[in-house]
Amino acid sequence: MQVQIETISPEKTQADALAVICFEAPDGQAQAPAVASASTPDPVVAAQSGWLAELRSSGEFTGKLYESAILHRPEGVAAKRLVVIGGGKREKFSSVEARRIAGTLARSLKSKGLRSVALLIEDLDLAAAATEGAILGAWEADKYKTDPKKNEKQIESFTIVVPGADPSGLQTAAEKGRIVAEAQNFTRDLVNEPPNRLTPAVLVDAAKGMAAELGLQCDVLDQDAMTQLGMGALLGVAQGSSNPPFLIAIKYAPPVNSGADHLALIGKGVTFDTGGISIKPSEGMEKMKYDMAGAAAVIGAMQAIGHLKPAIPVTGYIPTVENMLNGNAQRPGDIVTSLSGKTIEVLNTDAEGRLILADAITYANRNGATHIVDAATLTGAIGVALGHYNMGAFTNDQPLLESFMTASRTAGEKAWQLPLEEEYKEYLKSAFADLPNIGGRHGGSITAAWFLKEFADPTPWVHLDIASTAWLDDGKAWMSKGPTGVAVRSFVQLAMDWKSAG
Ligand code: BES
Ligand code: MN
Ligand code: ZN
Repeated sequence: MQVQIETISPEKTQADALAVICFEAPDGQAQAPAVASASTPDPVVAAQSGWLAELRSSGEFTGKLYESAILHRPEGVAAKRLVVIGGGKREKFSSVEARRIAGTLARSLKSKGLRSVALLIEDLDLAAAATEGAILGAWEADKYKTDPKKNEKQIESFTIVVPGADPSGLQTAAEKGRIVAEAQNFTRDLVNEPPNRLTPAVLVDAAKGMAAELGLQCDVLDQDAMTQLGMGALLGVAQGSSNPPFLIAIKYAPPVNSGADHLALIGKGVTFDTGGISIKPSEGMEKMKYDMAGAAAVIGAMQAIGHLKPAIPVTGYIPTVENMLNGNAQRPGDIVTSLSGKTIEVLNTDAEGRLILADAITYANRNGATHIVDAATLTGAIGVALGHYNMGAFTNDQPLLESFMTASRTAGEKAWQLPLEEEYKEYLKSAFADLPNIGGRHGGSITAAWFLKEFADPTPWVHLDIASTAWLDDGKAWMSKGPTGVAVRSFVQLAMDWKSAG
């Protein structure tokens, strides 16, 4: 699908459909799109007022968010159809809704067999978000379906029409939106791979391939190198699988680097999580292929960062293992020595993510990270606490968390801070080692984060628990079911907006 932003007048746009956003009026009736209320009369507006009045009086369209109506052969418009899509309340309309509306159009018009779509949008920021939405909406989780007809219905051209905008600003906005959304789709492709096809070694190949295309350095530690270094926490998890583990480091260096900051992005890369000897129930276990969604988000973000070239150096670290059980598998009761020197009593082999992240965080610290953000499908408990709409965010450094939250909001993703106070450390006591790998029954996501903090301190660090946001069980109008690619946009925005304050 080609996505472009253009300044041409909407009524002259040739397309199978021209979509316009109409808002809900205070009385629940549809309000004309923004261009219709502009002072310059234009033909599309004139035509619109007639049909809009009709749609309103018939009660078929009220402007409610994502509601839609299709008019054929609209008068005064070159496009074959006019799609009226609800924008909700105008004062609540933001880039979040613009992104979803574009995604909804891409999905619904694709399924109707339309090939070219234009969407009228009022301003540039919204247009960049709409570009993302269209690309994200068009993505499907059907790679392994062999139906020869599956690609017959495709939108070939999606044009975002922004009348009167500055063309150079437009190209930059379109380009950024496209790069970020394609990176997010790349992440979704990786997460969507089944666990027999995406092993740690295959994830390494994907990272290397992406890095080579962008001229990024990509270094990989294999099992021997990690044994040499003493990454006992990571290796303990990997030892029950015949697919060997790796630690990937993808490095982006800015063209001009004036600051001392060095951002590390770390992603949990468990390509399949059986739970190990503390085995998971079989129901739903197939979903544990998405236990590498943090890793995939880091790889996707590094791809976008390589294109967009922020001013700060960024290294993406990906510890990748398979959590399996064989005769050599780690046992509950094992005590491992992590890279940091701290000993860990493995009370539950299913709390493996924190074990591999502990060594990756120590490794990032030793390799010059001044700020760390990790993303991990770490705990089922985060879904109990926050549901499916917010990532859980934890920190040992409030200013870094605030920067992250701002970036995340700008990028249209949602994160909610959970506490990481001293009291919670009480839950993490081991009788026989420095730390246990699980806490008690309460605050499961918090004890997992506390465990990571022990390895991150004193480096400013943010931990994102994406276990409940990285996978959609039921598709949305604007997004297919399956992997969401969450955290990619926040990561990229954080790097792009980085302010070296120390
Ligand atoms: N990968 C899981 C967490 C998870 C659960 C991700 C559901 C996505 C959906 C993680 O490794 C895990 O097993 N966590 C345990 C921790 C427990 C043993 C303390 C959990 O959440 O049950
Ligand atoms: Mn687990
Ligand atoms: Zn896991």
